[in-house]
Amino acid sequence: MTTTAPATAPSSPVLVELDGLRKEFGGGHGSVAVDDVSLTVHEGETLALVGESGCGKTTLTRLLLRLLAPTAGRVCFEGRDLATLSAAELRYLRRQMQVVLQDPYSSMNPRWRIADVVAEPLITHDPAARGRRGRARTRERVGELLEAVGLDAAMRDRYPHEFSGGQRQRVSIARALALEPRLVVLDEPTSALDVSVQARILALLAELQQRHGLTYVFVSHNLAVVRQVADRVAVMRRGRLVEVGDAAQVFHEPRHPYTRQLLDAVPIPDPRRARRAGGRAGGAHGTRPGADAAAAGPPAAGGTGGSGG
Ligand SMILES: Nc1ncnc2c1ncn2[C@@H]1O[C@H](COP(=O)(O)OP(=O)(O)O)[C@@H](O)[C@H]1O
Ligand SMILES: [Mg+2]
Repeated sequence: MTTTAPATAPSSPVLVELDGLRKEFGGGHGSVAVDDVSLTVHEGETLALVGESGCGKTTLTRLLLRLLAPTAGRVCFEGRDLATLSAAELRYLRRQMQVVLQDPYSSMNPRWRIADVVAEPLITHDPAARGRRGRARTRERVGELLEAVGLDAAMRDRYPHEFSGGQRQRVSIARALALEPRLVVLDEPTSALDVSVQARILALLAELQQRHGLTYVFVSHNLAVVRQVADRVAVMRRGRLVEVGDAAQVFHEPRHPYTRQLLDAVPIPDPRRARRAGGRAGGAHGTRPGADAAAAGPPAAGGTGGSGG
């Protein structure tokens, strides 16, 4: 049980509840990656999980997705403890929880065409998708998914290396949406991208969230990005949650000294903070992720394999 309660509890129902989660690696003298974390994720919100590299963010999301078993504690999805589900029940529930990682290239088979990358979850969860009638339907669905993420359906026959980093991230978002999930865990989804590309991906994620009523757990060490996307923020340090609250509260009135330290360490593009910082010219250095959003448009077709991602 954390000592910090959300400033204002969101009014939407709880989708995921983490209760006293703990994860130790390496047995008796191993390290504690996640230490007594309790947290709720509400339907339709974007909950950001922030903290320095190595503080346990990814481990916590892997526990949430039940890709890792906790050493102690529980994860409930709509009130059901994941540890009590049968393999078949868990497989079914997995459709509702998808993940987008920082580097989609590493999880894409370079010899697969994009169509196969996006279709994989469809085929895995519905073997009929591979049959003759299923194939036509799958092809159509892959085209729809590519278009939904701002790619041209005609790109489906290309290979991952022919795409830019931003386009590959769009492909991994399309794949994550294939099974119409309710929750998407985004683990540093834009951290490998140029600032202008990052802004376009964030805009796409916001649009998809609205259209599909998605719930996001958005992991990032980049507070400037979190500032743009989060409804609530959970701050993690050395495996523990030190603060959870509304984004506005956490950014403007951080309660924990560590949160203050994190905020002071990076320039946040926010006029209120800049003003408070007085002569420090908060906005004069660093990046402004939203600044290039005006350049947003369809991604250049025929990316030539930039290594951005
Ligand atoms: N599979 C693993 N085996 C052993 N230690 C791990 C494993 N995964 C993560 N860790 C350790 O757990 C801690 C938290 O890592 P991680 O969750 O990846 O942090 P973050 O995502 O915040 O950078 C780190 O000390 C890391 O070395
Ligand atoms: Mg990580």
